[in-house]
Amino acid sequence: MFDKPFSQACENNKQPIFEILSRVLVDTKNLLEIGSGTGQHAAHFAPRLTYLEWHTSDMPDKHLGIVAWLEEVDVDNLHQPVSFTIGASSVWPLTNIDAVYTANTTHIMQPSETQLMMQLVADNLPSGGVFCQYGPYNFQGQYSSESNKAFDQHLREQGCGGIRDIDELTLWAKPLVLIETVPMPANNFMLVWQKQ
Ligand SMILES: C[S@@+](CC[C@H](N)C(=O)[O-])C[C@H]1O[C@@H](n2cnc3c(N)ncnc32)[C@H](O)[C@@H]1O
Repeated sequence: MFDKPFSQACENNKQPIFEILSRVLVDTKNLLEIGSGTGQHAAHFAPRLTYLEWHTSDMPDKHLGIVAWLEEVDVDNLHQPVSFTIGASSVWPLTNIDAVYTANTTHIMQPSETQLMMQLVADNLPSGGVFCQYGPYNFQGQYSSESNKAFDQHLREQGCGGIRDIDELTLWAKPLVLIETVPMPANNFMLVWQKQ
């Protein structure tokens, strides 16, 4: 029997994240989630945002877990994962996407992949489209906490790209504009970008 993957962090952060999404995605029709991971976020958010279509995506090895979480949610607006590995492909996987959500991917990806993600989102969102990017970030070269400094060292030792600075994301994201930087629990932030 296949055991669904489980993330305690997702359980902890899903409600604070939902409070932001429910406010900033009011005009969204089709959302792409990049790096859906376990699928827990999608399974929590889609039934609460029934006016929009939630499209999951990740690398193929994550799909079985995402599908297992989606199977437990009986809603029509939650969609099976599409393959989207940034860096392996720079082809945008879906049409008509007017919002993007990603959580805890920016510091996992290599810097070149994160740069490509920002460019792809910027290129493919329509004017007015929103990009919600959750995770730990640095500000003007400074860690936002001692625990994030230790986390960054751990990430780099594991071969991940590490925590990115808001300034470099801002350069990579043009013409997206950072319209909100919302402090979240556990020294994370929700960055809300909008295409002008
Ligand atoms: C730390 S997990 C976060 C998962 C989930 N969003 C969450 O908040 O729990 C990072 C996710 O990013 C995905 N990922 C890593 N590199 C990626 C890439 N280059 N393109 C797309 N997804 C990637 C991984 O497969 C994984 O699901």
